[in-house]
Order: sequence, then structure tokens, then C-alpha cells
Amino acid sequence: MPDRHASRFRRCEILVLEPREEPAFDLASLLGGGAGISRRLRWLALAPHLGTEVEVDERQREFLGSTSATHWQALPAGGDQAEVCQSLLQAGLLVSEHPADPAQQRHHDADQRQRTAHWHPLAAVLHAFTRWQGVDAVSNTRESATDTAVSMRAVLGAPPAPTRVQACGTGLSLPLPEDTAFDDLLARRATCRNFDETRPLPLQLFSRMLARTFGARGSVQVGDDLRFHKKGSPSGGGLHPTEAYLIVQNVEGIEAGLYYYRPEGHHLLRLPDPAAGLRAFAMEALGQQDWFANAHCVVTLVPRFDRTFWKYRRHAKGYRVVALEAGHLSQTLYLSATDLGLGAFITGAINERLLEEVFGLDAVCQGALAMCGFGWRAHTMETAELDPAGRVWERTGA
Ligand SMILES: Cc1cc2nc3c(=O)[nH]c(=O)nc-3n(C[C@H](O)[C@H](O)[C@H](O)COP(=O)(O)O)c2cc1C
Repeated sequence: MPDRHASRFRRCEILVLEPREEPAFDLASLLGGGAGISRRLRWLALAPHLGTEVEVDERQREFLGSTSATHWQALPAGGDQAEVCQSLLQAGLLVSEHPADPAQQRHHDADQRQRTAHWHPLAAVLHAFTRWQGVDAVSNTRESATDTAVSMRAVLGAPPAPTRVQACGTGLSLPLPEDTAFDDLLARRATCRNFDETRPLPLQLFSRMLARTFGARGSVQVGDDLRFHKKGSPSGGGLHPTEAYLIVQNVEGIEAGLYYYRPEGHHLLRLPDPAAGLRAFAMEALGQQDWFANAHCVVTLVPRFDRTFWKYRRHAKGYRVVALEAGHLSQTLYLSATDLGLGAFITGAINERLLEEVFGLDAVCQGALAMCGFGWRAHTMETAELDPAGRVWERTGA
């Protein structure tokens, strides 16, 4: 007797439908005296557990809109509805309770992980569909002529003023106390786009950088399986979901390669080398930004979203909290580097999908949010940095 549950299905947990208009070159329109552009309207299903857009037709949209994402229901017996249902099962927008083939099994498992990771639906869609693959950020800015401040101004027009101009209100001048060592540190912080490849980074400095930025300075254990680390940067809910995956390129005593940093015990785990080689991987991951790719150590900030969302379930602020935390870690890394006489950077122009693949990250639960790096500064500035007061470059003797 057939299992009556064998053919049940439901909709994937998170799904947003986007009506998208795309312009295309249209020769017929041009020859007919028109603008030479036609506009194509498509409906795209954005389901983060799939990570790729799926075009859907009217029948599929209707079917999705009338299918529960929580309750399993029996497959339509036959006819048009059965055909539409099968097409959506193949696409992974519907999932089968007992998948019939490996592809459906993968969709089922990914949807299951999506459910247990407790993403806010809109955050999940934003994150999944803003990840890059194979993007050359450098060529893109050159082609759009936005790669220098002068050309950017010419192309984009005038920007909003650097500070809001208040129409009314009484001015109040604030006192400025004497600078302390911390003010001096802040004055010397600048994004480094010029690393010195000829000078390896001593192990002690490398280790100090990791301990300060990512290390656990203590922990509090609650029961058997809930532990809070204490670190040098704040973290939403004290959960510290963001981990460091390293491309170590030029550090004394450490073989060049990929590593995972373990805050507990302050040690490194070696990961498999990327097939393309370290520098090519760094370049590709950094969107071809060669001024960052030769840093002595490049760090990918990888939050474990499921850890923060374990507490902030489907929470409207959950993703924002995790993203803000990456900024805190980056600033700690910058200040630590500045204090140690090193240069540091952060970039959001990264090819996340490659990083997920090479570091073996499950994209639903973990992801790359930004890449940072640090190392010795070069003696000459090949790529522009922002140092109007000459506080960085006066020191390196350039
Ligand atoms: C979130 C974030 C992303 C950034 N992305 C890039 C980037 O893709 N490429 C780059 O060269 N600099 C990047 N920067 C560095 C900024 O360009 C830099 O902070 C800015 O020009 C001010 O210079 P300063 O950091 O030396 O004060 C980024 C900075 C931040 C905070």
C-alpha cells in the first residue's frame, strides 16, 4: 500500500516575488524610428535557500500564492495543476516531504536549514541576492569613470553636503581639550592601499593583531551549552557570531595558506589551499583590488548568522546588528594595526560566493560580509590614500 505522505509538498519558507523590468537593445524599434530599446517585464522568484533567481509564469505565481509554507499537502492528482506543481518542485520553490531525486533532496535540505537559521525574510533575501560572483570592482569603477574623485564628481554631479546645513538654531562652540595618545592614534589611522611585500610580518605582531581583534579575553558559561565570550569589540546579544578566515601570505614562521582562527586557545586551523593559488584567490575575492591583495594577512569576516538569529529569531534588526558588528571588528583591527605601526584596510567589494566555496561555508547559516587586512606599509604610495595632514606618510618616510 503506498505511503499517503510520500507525495506531500509545501512551499519553501522564504519567497519574494519581484516584477522586474529590463531594457534590451531592439533593432526593429531603432529601424522603425524608435529609441531602439524594448522593455521586458518578468516575474522573478527570490528564494534565499536557492540563492539564484527563478523566473516564474502566471500559473506558477498563482500556485505559489495558494500554497502553504508550513503545512504539507497532497500533490494534485493530475492535469494542469500537477504539471505546475512538478515544475515548481524541480525549481526548488516547492519542496517535497520525501524528495524523489537528489536535486529535490538538496532543495529540501537547504529549505530546512533556512527554517532553522531563523532569518528575517527580507534580510535573508537581501543577503542572498546581493552576493557577488566574479565581479571586477576595479574595472567597473574605471568603466563608469568613478575611480577618481574628480571624474566621480563630473559623472555623478554634486553630492549632498558633507554635513547638514542647519537653517536655524543658535551655534555653540565646544571646548577641545588637549589631545591624548588616543587622539594621536586616531589621527594616524588611514586605510592602507600600499603594502610592503619585501618585508615579512613578524609572528608576534600577527598574533597580537588576531588576539586583539578576534581573540576571546574571557568567557561566561551558562549551563552545559551556552557560552558567551568577552572580546575587544561589542557584539549584539554578546553572541560574537563573526569569525575570521585568513589568507596568510607573508608572515614569519607561518606557511602561506588559508587558515581559520579559533578564538578559544588563540590558534589557527589550516584549511585546504585554493585551486587558483593564494594571490589569484585573494585578487578574485577582493574584486581585483590589487592594492589590498598583497597585504601580509587578509581576513574575511564571516558571521554565523544562525548563532545571532538563535536569539533574535526572524528579528527585524538581526541582520543589521550582525553587519554593524563587522564594522566594530574592522575599527578594532584598524586601531590595533595603527598602534603596532602597521597598515590596515576594509572592503565590502568582495566576491562572496567564491569565498563561501573556498572556505566551505554553508551560505544559509554563514556568509562573508567584508574583507579586512593588515601588514607593513610600503615606503612609496603607488595607490592613493587619504592622508591630508600627512600623519601617515610623514612617518613611513615617503
Ligand atoms: C565598509 C567600508 C567599505 C570600504 N570599501 C572599500 C573598497 O572597496 N575599496 C577601497 O579601496 N576602500 C574601501 N574602504 C575604505 C574607504 O575608502 C576609506 O575608509 C575612505 O576613503 C576614508 O579613508 P580613511 O579610512 O583613510 O580615513 C571602505 C571602507 C569602509 C568603512
